[in-house]
Amino acid sequence: MRDELTVLGIETSCDETAVAVVGDGVAGPQIRANLVQSQLAEHAPYGGIVPEIAARAHLDHIDDLIRRALDECGTDFDRIDAVAASAGPGLIGGLLVGTMAAKGIAWAAGKPYVAVNHLEAHALTARLTDQVAFPYLLLLVSGGHSQLLVAIGVGRFVQLGTTRDDAAGEAFDKTAKLLGLGYPGGPAIAAAAEGGDPRRIPLPRPLKGRSGCDFSFSGLKTAVRERVERSPPSGPGEIADLAAAIERAICDTLIDRTGNAVAWFVRHYPEGKGLVAAGGVAANVRLRRRLAALAADAKLAFVAPPPALCTDNGAMIAWTGLERLRLGLVDGLDAPVRPRWPLDPAATARAEKGRGL
Ligand code: KG4
Ligand code: ZN
Repeated sequence: MRDELTVLGIETSCDETAVAVVGDGVAGPQIRANLVQSQLAEHAPYGGIVPEIAARAHLDHIDDLIRRALDECGTDFDRIDAVAASAGPGLIGGLLVGTMAAKGIAWAAGKPYVAVNHLEAHALTARLTDQVAFPYLLLLVSGGHSQLLVAIGVGRFVQLGTTRDDAAGEAFDKTAKLLGLGYPGGPAIAAAAEGGDPRRIPLPRPLKGRSGCDFSFSGLKTAVRERVERSPPSGPGEIADLAAAIERAICDTLIDRTGNAVAWFVRHYPEGKGLVAAGGVAANVRLRRRLAALAADAKLAFVAPPPALCTDNGAMIAWTGLERLRLGLVDGLDAPVRPRWPLDPAATARAEKGRGL
């Protein structure tokens, strides 16, 4: 019998202020409220995220969002079981705003506080949406991270590969900027690529065909910059072809590296049944289609949360708080924010010794 639990979750690690209330019990997980306040307009004039502006915008919106989320599901601080906040990795100003709000509520209402790793929240979203069982293989692709991991349990991850330079989302964002398509670049490139020919303009696929599960995207960005400087796109048709070529190159690289990870996973975790995609880039429709085919070939179920739960949101923080609360993994009010917070700290040590898995 699963206890009925309700957790308030707060996400402020980057440029979305997000608050959600998630419940779980005999009827399974339920998102009772899920509000996101984007800061796109505030950052647009600067062509990227300005940390100081992000922190101030979080501060402006957070109280109102918390109030509205509680009102929307007709609950209050007394009737929730814990308060969870994204405590890292991310921009320190924003992390401080979200965690201080959560700690204040936890202290005033006498509820436990849960410091959530933002990456773990992306990683566990498939358990909220589809109740995926551990262990599963995870492609975590966002604006700041590109990783292949085995999710073994709550707080237990083995990293198979990571990016050597830019993250996949960063590759979308930087190349979109070069094409004048605006921020965030992923959805902009995907939209511009409609009707474009992905084969007309050749672009590199770094590390493709090599062993291992690491990524590299900076060569792609350089190739696009050089191409645009050499021959600026002449019109919408040319932009569509370039956008389609960029999207195809990033997807090819992700699929190649994930293919290696799938082969490793089925050998080492024969009991594992799922391939999960998470993070903002997992909202990409063409990537999802190809990952589904890859998983089917390996007889794994493919799970990707709906796009709104792939990009940053409060529900994933509340859910991770709830999973941790169930296991008694709560934190003190002196828990720090952690601008850097790897899911598998041992992976860095392994890489430094030149030893993969
Ligand atoms: O997970 P997320 O919302 O924030 C971080 O934690 O970074 O991911 C944001 C990233 C951005 O780089 C954005 O361009 C990318 O996800 N993204 C996409 C799509 N939607 C968002 N990339 C490709 N295709 C999309 N449809
Ligand atoms: Zn994220």
